[in-house]
Amino acid sequence: MEITLEAPLDMHLHLRDGDMLKLVAPLSADFAGAVIMPNLVPPITEPGGMVAYGERIREAMGETDFTRYMTLFFTKQTEQQLEQAMGTPGFFGYKLYPAGITTNSEGGVANLKEAESTLKMMEERGIPLLVHGESHGFVMDREAEFLSVYRTLAETFPRLRICMEHITTAAALELLDTYENLCATVTLQHLIITLDDVAGGALRPHLFCKPIAKRPGDRDALLQAALNGHPRLMFGSDSAPHPRCNKEACGCAAGVFTAPLALPKLAEIFAAHGAADKLQDFVSGNACRIHGLTPSAKTITLHDKPMQVPAVYRSYGQQVVPMYAGEEISWSIRN
Ligand code: DOR
Ligand code: ZN
Repeated sequence: MEITLEAPLDMHLHLRDGDMLKLVAPLSADFAGAVIMPNLVPPITEPGGMVAYGERIREAMGETDFTRYMTLFFTKQTEQQLEQAMGTPGFFGYKLYPAGITTNSEGGVANLKEAESTLKMMEERGIPLLVHGESHGFVMDREAEFLSVYRTLAETFPRLRICMEHITTAAALELLDTYENLCATVTLQHLIITLDDVAGGALRPHLFCKPIAKRPGDRDALLQAALNGHPRLMFGSDSAPHPRCNKEACGCAAGVFTAPLALPKLAEIFAAHGAADKLQDFVSGNACRIHGLTPSAKTITLHDKPMQVPAVYRSYGQQVVPMYAGEEISWSIRN
């Protein structure tokens, strides 16, 4: 069996910088493009830094045609800053992190009230707002507690395109169905694993991410929504590489590295559930429609021949361990 995808997109990707960028960028090259996260150290807050980062990504990707949808770290930007960003080629939108909620987010927003004038201007200009939606509460409740913030944002700014990034709960899906101006991304791991896979037996650091994987009912609801072709749910891997020594450590960094196996694993899952015809919209069509994107032309064919996932990806002095390290996936990319 085969599935051919036109212009697959990863709507939430961490590519890092320096040697790590050089290692991981080519591993996303089967995608036609991706929304690139700005949480470097320091974060990308200015169009100049964004353009320079986009160039480093282009160099690291090699020959392939790959559309970079660049984001800026939300910092209550002024009207002038918004205008400047909008006039910068490659700019896609702002990524809002609650201060200190995850990797390199210390400079995020502490009080959303103070951000209202920026959000109003973004609404007027049609700039998307991408949100890491977690509170500072108990780890399993963080997304649920943040839903009231999404609700307020969706009601206060009815024309603002608000993307709930990496949703992990059935409750977030319900909210998505309540407001037309909400859309959402979901990762590969949150369609597959629960907290049990992370910490129910021996602790598995390479499955530890934020938001943390939740309950079976949440995972099942997310998978069903994807398989049913929910029109406002998009694939965003949140592939988040960390050096192996920072994952296999006392104080494990949050992030699951899935970029190189995401498309084969998605094909395996959608085919196994008889939903192969829904994959195109999940990995591209919905995003193109919601955001009006026209990515680079790239056709990729997947087939039901096994892929051996490397135990580790290493180059440029870096080592990163992927999800399914050393295991086999029953689908692969046909070259
Ligand atoms: O697990 C995560 N890793 N969640 C995030 O929100 C950030 C990401 C990272 O940058 O490592
Ligand atoms: Zn992320």
